[in-house]
Amino acid sequence: MNDNNNKVFYITTPIYYVNDIPHIGHAYTTVACDTAARYKRMKGYDVHFLTGTDEHGQKIQTAAQAKGESPQQFVDRIHMKFRELCKALNASNDDFIRTTEERHIKVVQSMFSKLIEQGDIYKGTYSGYYCVPDETYVPENAMGPNKTCPDCGRPLTIMEEECYFFKASKYVPQLIKFYEEHEKAVMPKIRYNEIMSFLRGGVKDIAVSRTSLKWGIPLPNDERHVVYVWFDALVNYASAIGYLDDPEKFAYWWPHVRHMVGKDIIRFHCVIWPLMLLALGLNLPVEVFAHGWWTVEGEKMSKSKGNVVDPFEMVKNYGLDPFRYFLLREVPFGNDGDFSELALVGRINSDLANDLGNLLNRTLQMIRSYRGGVVPSLNGEKSDLSELSGQILERVDEAMNNYAFDEALKAIWEFIGRSNKFIDETMPWKLAKDESQNKNLDFVLANLYEALRLSALLVATVMPETSKRIWEQLGIDEDPVKYNYDSFKWGEGSGNKIGKSEVLFPRIDIDEWKKARKAKEEEKKLQESAAVIEHEEEISIDDFKKTEMRVARITKCEEIPKSKKLYKLEVDLGYEKRTVCSGIKAFFTPDELVGKTVILVTNLKPVKLCGVESNGMILAASVKKDGVSEKLTLLEPEDKSIPLGSRVS
Ligand code: ME8
Ligand code: MG
Repeated sequence: MNDNNNKVFYITTPIYYVNDIPHIGHAYTTVACDTAARYKRMKGYDVHFLTGTDEHGQKIQTAAQAKGESPQQFVDRIHMKFRELCKALNASNDDFIRTTEERHIKVVQSMFSKLIEQGDIYKGTYSGYYCVPDETYVPENAMGPNKTCPDCGRPLTIMEEECYFFKASKYVPQLIKFYEEHEKAVMPKIRYNEIMSFLRGGVKDIAVSRTSLKWGIPLPNDERHVVYVWFDALVNYASAIGYLDDPEKFAYWWPHVRHMVGKDIIRFHCVIWPLMLLALGLNLPVEVFAHGWWTVEGEKMSKSKGNVVDPFEMVKNYGLDPFRYFLLREVPFGNDGDFSELALVGRINSDLANDLGNLLNRTLQMIRSYRGGVVPSLNGEKSDLSELSGQILERVDEAMNNYAFDEALKAIWEFIGRSNKFIDETMPWKLAKDESQNKNLDFVLANLYEALRLSALLVATVMPETSKRIWEQLGIDEDPVKYNYDSFKWGEGSGNKIGKSEVLFPRIDIDEWKKARKAKEEEKKLQESAAVIEHEEEISIDDFKKTEMRVARITKCEEIPKSKKLYKLEVDLGYEKRTVCSGIKAFFTPDELVGKTVILVTNLKPVKLCGVESNGMILAASVKKDGVSEKLTLLEPEDKSIPLGSRVS
């Protein structure tokens, strides 16, 4: 019973703000939680994995306004992107909660009422410096230079309002005691220490209502106020599992709750939330794990810098599993990390295509050519690989229990590396040439097969699709993600008939990749220069009407020997033909130009250019940098059958 009770695992991501679209940070937390959830399921746990969206508050109200939508319309629309993200990431979440749902709203109100009734929420006035984007008051001793937010650096606003307060201070000693007795309740250690010293410095009562905004949950006792968005948001972890409606369900999951968050929001999760829970008489979370922060190519990610990494694009360009693998392998979980596409490509080529992909290819090919595609028997003997497999399973287990995803992956790749080396050492191609080595060859091939069967199983939590693809190639007609790790036995694959081979991870040609990336960057730069707008002085419609423009067709194109830029063109206006010099040589060959229908300015004073008289000007759109066109396109009438000479106005 007790043991069964311990095999319950309830894990949550933060609920993401919908004022913005999903980025790599959101993807990171979701993938990490998903991997932890999948691991526990494969260890036989009953798992509940929750994610969702945070949909109230000033930020959302402002963002909706900017789009000219009602907050409800806005959140209904944007929250879908986060659902799509879950799908795109193959997240195995069991539920998705939105704070605008009825099941959530009534729990927030009920908890609020309970705390008022027991005297833990009281009315007062609040005045202080407030960071609107972060939805938080900033104490004066924590302000940045020039009264800015210490977290985001943006200017603070003074706010004064009648307000309800939560008696957080009352429960601080109890929380300190709990943390003293549960050193793993906040992980990693550095965050634990941070929270302890914060708590020991004292905590003031917390303002938990606002009158300054409308978009929130109304207080049950006072409709002029809405619930502070963080009080509202944190409650999601309880409302989603039936705190009010389904006490049995709540009682089943709540004692096993774990929160995974970014380090930016640990005070909310390790101070405010536990204090609320103590006041409500509920268990404290078993663990809160705070992971680190991603920068992008060495810089802080921000919209203004335009370097926000779009997870949908990463999945599209590199595949989902490689992206998931990279996120968890690249950086020790808990530390900050830097995202770079080149590093991602490097990992795809070395770890995935080379190490794992080659092990699979080589092994299957040998089983096919030496044993007709049937996995031979192990003969009951032990090998280096079988011995190592036990250690690896243990190491992975320990790492996963500590959310050390990178350590788990390192252990798995050590095993994959050892298996590749096993091929080089045993040289099956030599054994195959010698009849007397038949049994040895069986042994080698069977061990390699088992190594792959296990490796695929071990990567299933991080790369579920890949794991399945490997098992398919191994001829195992089962979904590895449904397998229980504890039932793995070395040697059970003997007798299997292997399946069809396919390349797991195509190698990415680095030179090609760099070229494509450079082209993309240039296009982006071009885009930026096009956006530099220089306005001319205002003119009247009569001024404009003085310009005579007509449809014309280019009938001849010749080079002008003295000019690098100009072509000498003959254009047909229907009623007459003219000669025009045009500086478009850098962008077209004569063949491309002849036959084009264009727009010609026909009443310009003739000029002599490089010795040729020009009688008009062809219209083109271009992007200029330092006065030089970098990109150019000719204006053409949409319907080319319009008669030549037609007036443009
Ligand atoms: O804070 N690197 O929502 P949010 C790594 N609604 N992780 C990052 C990241 C980065 N650069 N940027 C964001 C909120 N994250 C609240 C939470 S919970 C009751 C309410 C991740 O949309 C990280 O997990 O700002 C962080 O905690 C979360 O996104 C914040 O998401
Ligand atoms: Mg944030």
